[in-house]
Amino acid sequence: MGFVNRAKNVATKTKNYFVHDKELIDAFNKQYFDTRVWQNRTHWFGTRILKCPTDLWVYQEMFHELQPDLVIETGTFNGGSALYMAHLMDIVGKGEIITIDIEKKDVFPEHPRITYHTASSVAPETIAMVAEKVRGKKSVMVILDSDHSRDHVLQEMKLYHRFVSKGNYLIVEDSNLNGNPIHSELRHGPGPMEALHEFLQENSDFKIDKDREKFMVTFNPNGYLKRVQ
Ligand SMILES: C[S@@+](CC[C@H](N)C(=O)[O-])C[C@H]1O[C@@H](n2cnc3c(N)ncnc32)[C@H](O)[C@@H]1O
Repeated sequence: MGFVNRAKNVATKTKNYFVHDKELIDAFNKQYFDTRVWQNRTHWFGTRILKCPTDLWVYQEMFHELQPDLVIETGTFNGGSALYMAHLMDIVGKGEIITIDIEKKDVFPEHPRITYHTASSVAPETIAMVAEKVRGKKSVMVILDSDHSRDHVLQEMKLYHRFVSKGNYLIVEDSNLNGNPIHSELRHGPGPMEALHEFLQENSDFKIDKDREKFMVTFNPNGYLKRVQ
């Protein structure tokens, strides 16, 4: 079998594997989540980052592909994800990040591409500040990673989706909560997954890009939303 056919065969098998072994993949995702390694022992250049490494790899591919001029992140935590994205932008050679959190911390890493904004992500002044920053930017990505309750995420989606440029993404983080497939936070209740499905019922400008879940281990099932129009 030639190389091209072999590659096609592998691709088909990978796809089938994804479809047929959903139970296995869900079980592994739950197991990985329950280790809490992502919460306590995952760092980017010394700063804690609350992400799954396979999602960070997907981010890397997206940054190379989309070359964002601006990334808006809600939910800074310790600044690990902002620093990670700033380093990607250093490699790409362009871009800046606004990261928004209700809490300001001494541990926030300094980087010339990062602007920290202390306020609620849904405050009218925050939205006005973001709208000002977006003006004139061609490639804009939005990452929602703050309060993961359904109502808050839905409100963020309604407020922030207009900032995403066509072809770029609205990433809804932690859609794995509330049994999707993570059950360990039983008291969480409806979260990002429920918000994004409600949002998509009324908005056809965004489509779920399942290919961004190709590594099978993700905190963001259905959470990579591509702006298609
Ligand atoms: C999951 S953490 C962010 C993780 C971070 N992006 C990372 O990957 O390391 C969620 C953060 O959202 C913040 N947060 C909660 N409610 C918020 C709100 N209404 N507006 C902005 N940030 C909020 C919390 O203070 C917390 O730092």
